[in-house]
Amino acid sequence: MVLLGVNVDHVATLRQARGGREPDPLMGATLAILGGADGITVHLREDRRHINDRDLRLMRQLVSIELNLEMAPVGEMVKIALETKPDMATLVPEKRRELTTEGGLDAKGDFKKISEAVKRLKDGGIPVSLFIDPDEKAVEWAAKTGADMVELHTGYYSNAGAAAKAKELRKVEASMGLAKSAGLLVNAGHGLDYSNVAGIAFLPGLRGLYIGHSIVSRAVLVGMQEAVARMKALIAGPDRK
Ligand code: PXP
Repeated sequence: MVLLGVNVDHVATLRQARGGREPDPLMGATLAILGGADGITVHLREDRRHINDRDLRLMRQLVSIELNLEMAPVGEMVKIALETKPDMATLVPEKRRELTTEGGLDAKGDFKKISEAVKRLKDGGIPVSLFIDPDEKAVEWAAKTGADMVELHTGYYSNAGAAAKAKELRKVEASMGLAKSAGLLVNAGHGLDYSNVAGIAFLPGLRGLYIGHSIVSRAVLVGMQEAVARMKALIAGPDRK
């Protein structure tokens, strides 16, 4: 069975739009769990633009399925991870100005920084996954860091037009084979939605998929009818038709 890790960052993005208390990503996580999620992912960014330290702390208390902490391989985040003890950590590159994680880690260029973070996390009992591009060299260098898993970046596949899709899928498939031969568990994620997930989900040997934006987007829409009907009922009051 392929695991589904649900990223609830964008529930917090909506909260931050007003700077108030709702919607709370903890409630998003609870409902995702009721819906059958196998894991919950949160990305604690350096600028705390969505998930914050309170969310992560409470998430650790709430989530008894896999809690995956997405984080940059930097000292501050390693320290927080070692204190919070998520069930796994996924190391991602992080740029302040990006809208979302843009590309995979440069496991070769940042080898020292990444391997040190991997070692500290693993020494603290936290399994580590590296978010990398579906590329032979990236897989090779990821394996050298001592990480347990990789998460192959499916954004290129997801964004490709019809002509390039098959080629991008083959890259993911080939990288998956290489990663497995190197003894790594293989996850995938980024940009997956209701129309493109099947192409990736049926690749043999996949451990898990990590999906956020499309699930939160659909959740906003499928809940709209009920939310409006409830408000209408409150406005009408018990006696007014
Ligand atoms: N995996 C990683 C490493 C990510 O950075 C993200 C985005 O936060 C996701 C998966 C989920 O991507 P999406 O929101 O496009 O489903």
